[in-house]
Amino acid sequence: MVREWLSVLRLGKTKNDSPEVDDLYKSLDADKLPVHIAIIMDGNGRWATRRGLPRALGHRAGVESLREIVKTCSSLGVGFLTVYAFSTENWKRPADEVSTLMDLLVEYLHKELQELHQNNVMIKTIGRIDELPSKAREALKMAAEETFRNTGLTLNLALNYGGRNEITEAVKQIGRDAAAGKLNPDDIDENIISGYLYTAGMPDPDLVIRPSGEQRISNFLLWQAAYAEFWYSPVLWPDFRKRHLLEALVDYQNRQRRFGGLYQSKK
Ligand code: FPP
Repeated sequence: MVREWLSVLRLGKTKNDSPEVDDLYKSLDADKLPVHIAIIMDGNGRWATRRGLPRALGHRAGVESLREIVKTCSSLGVGFLTVYAFSTENWKRPADEVSTLMDLLVEYLHKELQELHQNNVMIKTIGRIDELPSKAREALKMAAEETFRNTGLTLNLALNYGGRNEITEAVKQIGRDAAAGKLNPDDIDENIISGYLYTAGMPDPDLVIRPSGEQRISNFLLWQAAYAEFWYSPVLWPDFRKRHLLEALVDYQNRQRRFGGLYQSKK
């Protein structure tokens, strides 16, 4: 019993949690948490449409979910949280929706930065950041500069990100380096390729979460998710709360990860 509660305390439980959340905390093993969680934040548009609201309000509600999930990951001691906030394909959306998403990003960074910093969160990005509007680039630069010394959760914002584009750019750079004699083509292995991706130096995601009932990878972390566990939920992202994250974690901890080998039972 004492051990169970010590474990719950270590996981960052708060006194306001519902009995359901309490039970989920009790089922979690603090020593078996994923180091890297990746989330495709999907369903904002449907959430708004179902309520007769403009899509922009669905995205705004989605920021609340992001806030809660970042806080929970940080208090659990998760190492990395990568969230898909804007894909290379999202430019095809109407200009006012793109502009809303960029405004929300800037607002989120301005409002949350101090709390994220106090919670030791480091903010990073993956994607073609140089193609974002200047106000978004400036806010991201400020957030990265403010938090780069932090040693807690790394919050990795995937913005103007596409997995195929990331791999294409990596291949181009590998080709340039090989042509310049900096890299022997015979030395190219999986580690070298990983080192040319936006996620260089980060562990691969252990768990990829996709809410909203869709079961696709949608060009997200194509190389990095090779051995990730996937967890899907019908819940739309703006309704996604701590409880859903804990459910995903409990489910993840009950899986047997084999990485292509055979499961080895503990002796
Ligand atoms: C997908 O839902 C969601 C997005 C394209 C954007 C996600 C953005 C946020 C949660 C808020 C802004 C982000 C930050 C970092 C502050 P969808 O619009 O495709 O939903 P639908 O499939 O129901 O239409």
